[in-house]
Parts: sequence; C-alpha cells; structure tokens
Amino acid sequence: MPLILGLLGSPLPHGNTALLLDRALAGAAEAGCAVERVNVPLLTFEPCMEILHCMTAPECAQFDDLTQFYAKVVAADGIVIATPVMTMGMPGKLKGFLDRFQVFYWAKYGRREPLVPKERRSQRHGLLLAISGLPRGTEPRVFDGVLNSTRAWFDIVDVTAGEELLIDHMDEKRDLAGFPALLEEARAMGQRLGTRACEGRRAPPGG
Ligand SMILES: Cc1cc2nc3c(=O)[nH]c(=O)nc-3n(C[C@H](O)[C@H](O)[C@H](O)COP(=O)(O)O)c2cc1C
Repeated sequence: MPLILGLLGSPLPHGNTALLLDRALAGAAEAGCAVERVNVPLLTFEPCMEILHCMTAPECAQFDDLTQFYAKVVAADGIVIATPVMTMGMPGKLKGFLDRFQVFYWAKYGRREPLVPKERRSQRHGLLLAISGLPRGTEPRVFDGVLNSTRAWFDIVDVTAGEELLIDHMDEKRDLAGFPALLEEARAMGQRLGTRACEGRRAPPGG
C-alpha cells in the first residue's frame, strides 16, 4: 500500500492547520493509501549542527527523534507539508526538521548518489497546505518563505512539487471548520495525491 507522510508544522495538534492536514490525509486514505501524520513540533531533535559528516557519508551524525524519518521519507510515495506562516516563514521546528535533510542534498548533488532510487523520483509527489494570519492583499509576500523552503526541500528529497493550497487572512476567518469549501479542497488535493501515489506504485520499474 502506498504511504503518504503528512508533516504538521503547527504546534497545535487540533488547530486549523491540523484540520486541513487531516482532511488531506483522509482524501489520500480514500484513494487507497496508508497515511501517517507527524507532529513535528512535538519531536525532540536538534537543528543541523553542520558536522558535515553527510558530505561524505549517506547518513546524519546526529541521532534523535528525527533519525527514523530519513527512512520514512525514502519510503513515502507522497508527502504533505501543512504549516502556518510564522514570522513570514515556516515555524522554526519544521524548518529545523527540513534542514536536517542536508544528508539527502549531499548524496544527490555532492556525490551524485541519491538516496531515493532514480525510478521512484518521478512517481513521488508533494502537496503544500499553508495558512497565514494576514491577508495577501496587504502582505503579498506572506507565503514566499514557506513556498521557497518547501519547494527546495521537495527537490532535495526527490519529491515532485505538486499542488499548493494557500489560505490567507486566518486572523479574520478564525475557525476553518466554518469554511467547508476550503476543507473539501484539501480533501480533494489529498485524494489526487493518493491516486497519483497508487498509479506510481503500479507503474513498471524504470517508468
Ligand atoms: C509566532 C507566530 C508568528 C506568526 N507570524 C505570522 C506572520 O508573519 N504572518 C502571518 O500572516 N501570520 C502569522 N501568524 C499567524 C498564523 O499564521 C495563524 O494564526 C495561523 O492560523 C496559525 O495556524 P494554527 O492555528 O494551525 O497553528 C503567526 C502566528 C504565530 C503564533
């Protein structure tokens, strides 16, 4: 069964971003995928300490809660990043999580020995769900930080960047439960991601 990994950047396990992620994962499950939600702020790990062990070896020299996710990111058939905007970027803990995947960067671009098998790269897709408090009308660049880091990370871990649902002005909307059309959009995006993951699994090797 294909696996869809959902990375939650919000520290609130039942907040608006979590609700959005759960809807997307429910859509992926409807498509026939196994889903796993990771509450990143609740993990205990250090940021990348630039030991640079991964420049020459296919692993990270730091061992903590994050270590298990290297294998999971390789195994995943699709990845959802769900995050609020904080200080015009993604929350520090989520950014720290993504930074630790420098081990994939050096394998792919330094040694040309990517950790994700070549034939799987085009079959893995990403989905971004992001929420800002401020309106894009007055803060046109409010999602830029989240978009830049997410797209860069998807490239590093060999996930094809896919759909992006950006919900602004949450300070006014307050409770996403009152916006069923947006929740349905998240579910539909998750379902499309799941369907692609299932198709990817059925594709012949090398396809
Ligand atoms: C520490 C912090 C920093 C924030 N910085 C921004 C910001 O720079 N721009 C913005 O539009 N919203 C900002 N927000 C608002 C959040 O993006 C918004 O409240 C979002 O709905 C939080 O999602 P959650 O409740 O699922 O965690 C910030 C919120 C917090 C807690």
